[in-house]
Amino acid sequence: MAFLADALSRVKPSATIAVSQKARELKAKGRDVIGLGAGEPDFDTPDNIKQAAIDAINRGETKYTPVSGIPELRDAIAKKFKRENNLDYTAAQTIVGTGGKQILFNAFMATMNAGDEVVIPTPYWVSYPEMVSLCGGTPVFVATTQENKFKLKAEDLEKAITPKTKWFIFNSPSNPSGAAYSHDELKALTDVLMRQPHVWVLTDDMYEHLTYGDFKFATPVEVEPGLYDRTLTMNGVSKAYAMTGWRIGYAAGPLNLIKAMDMIQGQQTSGACSIAQWAAVEALNGTQDFIPENKKIFEGRRDLIVSMLNQAKGIECPSPEGAFYVYPSCKGLIGKTAPSGKVIETDEDFVSELLEAEGVAVVHGSAFGLGPNFRISYATSEALLEEAGKRIQRFCAACK
Ligand SMILES: Cc1ncc(COP(=O)(O)O)c(C=O)c1O
Repeated sequence: MAFLADALSRVKPSATIAVSQKARELKAKGRDVIGLGAGEPDFDTPDNIKQAAIDAINRGETKYTPVSGIPELRDAIAKKFKRENNLDYTAAQTIVGTGGKQILFNAFMATMNAGDEVVIPTPYWVSYPEMVSLCGGTPVFVATTQENKFKLKAEDLEKAITPKTKWFIFNSPSNPSGAAYSHDELKALTDVLMRQPHVWVLTDDMYEHLTYGDFKFATPVEVEPGLYDRTLTMNGVSKAYAMTGWRIGYAAGPLNLIKAMDMIQGQQTSGACSIAQWAAVEALNGTQDFIPENKKIFEGRRDLIVSMLNQAKGIECPSPEGAFYVYPSCKGLIGKTAPSGKVIETDEDFVSELLEAEGVAVVHGSAFGLGPNFRISYATSEALLEEAGKRIQRFCAACK
């Protein structure tokens, strides 16, 4: 009898965590490494949010909370959806989890039966297919292209849907490509979904507040209210409020799904950290002034790294609308010989040779299901980005 569960054989470890780990190890050995692998803002959590947590501790808010979250936070979430997305949800239709990650996992856990398919556009956030597989479902990948700015075409979505499709995962702005769908681009997809009434929509709006220029964020139910009864709208405080370590994510959707997710969470972790929940109340209800300030900083960094990458020989980098990632192609380097003498055959070779030669840590595109590309997180200082850009240019010029 095997000791470890069969389900483990269906799961890969996170490539993004592996890259950060490798960069840390090289740094510990004294190498000068610039880590561009991490998916978190480099800003500190705003002071008003920290203070709300300190106040919660001092008030003694240190006990178990209701499984789905404290009423004050569920109320703040319902208000956020109305205020920012014009979506009507009652507090009872919301749920708070330990990060958006737990929300997604429990949504799959609550709904997945053997044979169920989940349509996932590539490139995708690394955890989607692994979570689907762990919960017994089958990921079905639909490719996007760099020419189409990594956005899914309606006809490709339609072709991927079968009678077994349970969920379609939508993520805009996207991790890893940064691509964000305008209202009209999203409408083309929701029109397909309206013709497929058995398909549920899981929209991961985690990067909602990180869009640039005059881009206007849109979420599926806002664009197509007809999807209200079969959409789970997921979001969280990690990225917009620089709160990755606080571990608060949330969602709103049909009551029967929320109740099923509550039941799973009740036997799993119960309510999220009480103190972090009070901090999240302040994040959602308090001042939002730092969001445009942070956006401006991110936008400057995006423009800098896109420009530097496009000056590197063999690299092509579109300028995405949102998140804090770029997803350049390294196709022009495939077949070339790196300074170490190794021939670069894949994007994975490219990133490991880049790390060896220049100490720049990025994540290979094949980890996100679409290559030859790589992902750069530009959630780091302009000075470091500029240095990383120079090193990438030098590495590419040295590949013959
Ligand atoms: C697209 C996307 N969804 C969800 C998450 C999970 O966020 P958290 O669990 O920190 O709330 C992340 C984090 O990297 C992400 O990039």
